[in-house]
Amino acid sequence: MHEPDPRIVLGLHRSRYERRTLTSALDLGITAIDTSFNYQGFTAHATLADVAGDLLPHFTLSTKVGFFPAASQAEHSLDPARLRAALEQTNRDLGREPDLVFLHNPERSLRSPAAAARDALGQACATLAAAVEDGLCGAWGISTWDPRPLPGLVDATLPRPAVLMVSAGLLVGIDVLEASEALSAQWDVAPDQIWGMSPFGGDADNPLWGRLDPCIFISEADDAISALQAAFRTAFSLPEVGRIAVGTDNPTHLQQLIDALRYEPDADRLRTYRQILRDRTGRQAD
Ligand SMILES: NC(=O)c1ccc[n+]([C@@H]2O[C@H](COP(=O)([O-])OP(=O)(O)OC[C@H]3O[C@@H](n4cnc5c(N)ncnc54)[C@H](OP(=O)(O)O)[C@@H]3O)[C@@H](O)[C@H]2O)c1
Repeated sequence: MHEPDPRIVLGLHRSRYERRTLTSALDLGITAIDTSFNYQGFTAHATLADVAGDLLPHFTLSTKVGFFPAASQAEHSLDPARLRAALEQTNRDLGREPDLVFLHNPERSLRSPAAAARDALGQACATLAAAVEDGLCGAWGISTWDPRPLPGLVDATLPRPAVLMVSAGLLVGIDVLEASEALSAQWDVAPDQIWGMSPFGGDADNPLWGRLDPCIFISEADDAISALQAAFRTAFSLPEVGRIAVGTDNPTHLQQLIDALRYEPDADRLRTYRQILRDRTGRQAD
């Protein structure tokens, strides 16, 4: 068993939910898993309890609510009653209280005008805050794939999440990066409580990783670091996050991600990269 490394959260979005994935993660010192009410066709929580219920006490477990089963496919909702019911079912299905529950992609259900959107977001946040009070989860957060609509809605009247999870890495556009940073600043979320997600955009086989060499963004890169490892390490700085939720069912891949943590991103080059992204939108540096 390795020393626990809190910087990697094993994301189970694409996982096969096999026990071996979790035992190898523990062996490698990865003790945080992230799942969701809607993963695995809405069976992720029950499947986890079924295949690895005895292992769950060894993990800090985060999950998400916001998507619900519907006739044809999943539907999104911020309805407080539906969120509360999902939180209660989550506790029953897992057989334990999750350490953290994210409001899942709230941007999906925000309608204009802004006052109505703020009200819907505020009520959803209040529902998760009440769930913490009622012992249904240890803390609550917001996980947002596209945070662009959110900074304009946040004010001092909204409950404040303990954790924000945002897209991270070289595939994230400058508008999304900057919206994530604006949101973290408005809610005053400390950098170590900001989580990145999906550092490979869900597809490590993307031919882009063969065309672009992410090693240029690593200080003192040596021959031992691969393009994917460099992309992963760089994702901690785009935007600045304390942990990253990354998916893998393959222990060798997980070990490679852990090994990548010993490298450091090159801050100067990343500043230049961000300026290039900004220039492409015709804007100047802040
Ligand atoms: N809105 C949201 O809340 C949201 C959205 C997306 C993601 N997330 C979170 O972020 C987590 C990760 O997202 P994701 O799974 O979509 O994307 P990801 O982490 O960018 O990519 C996962 C893919 O990368 C592969 N991979 C990982 N390490 C590798 C390595 N060292 N070498 C080769 N391939 C490697 C995995 O395949 P193998 O299994 O073969 O290694 C898997 O197919 C999710 O599980 C979830 O927790 C949240």
